Amino acid sequence: MKLQLFLIFCSLAINVVFCDEEIIFTPDSYVPPPDRHPRIVGGVNTTIDEVPYIISMRYCNPLTDTCGHRCGGSIINHNTVLTAGHCVDRTIIPEQIWVRAGSDLRNQGGQLIPVRRIIIHPEYERTQLFNDIAILKLTASFRFNSRVMPIGLPPRGMSIRKGTPLLVSGWGALLWQGSSPERLQKVYVPYVPNEECARIYGNIRVTSLCAGREGVDACQGDSGGPLVYKNFVVGVVSGGSFCAFDGFPGTYARTSEFLGFIGQAMSM
Ligand SMILES: *[C@@H]1O[C@H](CO)[C@@H](O)[C@H](O)[C@H]1NC(C)=O
Repeated sequence: MKLQLFLIFCSLAINVVFCDEEIIFTPDSYVPPPDRHPRIVGGVNTTIDEVPYIISMRYCNPLTDTCGHRCGGSIINHNTVLTAGHCVDRTIIPEQIWVRAGSDLRNQGGQLIPVRRIIIHPEYERTQLFNDIAILKLTASFRFNSRVMPIGLPPRGMSIRKGTPLLVSGWGALLWQGSSPERLQKVYVPYVPNEECARIYGNIRVTSLCAGREGVDACQGDSGGPLVYKNFVVGVVSGGSFCAFDGFPGTYARTSEFLGFIGQAMSM
């Protein structure tokens, strides 16, 4: 999808949104050397019954009449999906979005359900990726089974210790600017406290969460997907600079700061 790239003077802080398609790039921006981190980045194949709450959001482009994986998302109840604001912003309408649950393959299987309504956080801000969170209400309910199950929302103000391994999964690129897998990937990324993360990026607020280290991260196409700790979706894949580069953790929307919005949108 789209991305935003901000060259913040000398800091090389480039903010990239982790979605597929239309990767736009300024030609003179710093491009890190390829293949530094062969291998979500650094992950392994997984099966959907290990992460039965993940969905693949599919976007059907009315101009080209083609559909494909765009972003990840999390099932939070029988007809509600949690995702990132930037996955569904701009001109996207519900009729162009479908959700595939219950399959570990990018383009087949599982339950494919059309979206009825898109609710983006009212204070979502696309240039800084503030409040990068959205809810999709579906036209029909999931049929829950061992491959399709909701994930819990974290308690308000939930705290996580530095370095705690958090599980992120998705069909995003295997490395920065790399190709995307057919099969679902997962990887554990260490939690980076906000104070530390704010020294790296300029857009870190209490509503942000950071995780990752050199070699393990989310990447383009993982946007909107789940970051999980215990049985809670503690984050929504949002942005970060590059993927899995030393000193640049991934950034997430901190779910525990959005319980009011999520609860309201869920009932719409
Ligand atoms: C992961 O899945 C891909 C595609 O299904 C397959 O080609 C590859 O061999 C798998 N890798 C491992 C380590 O099982």
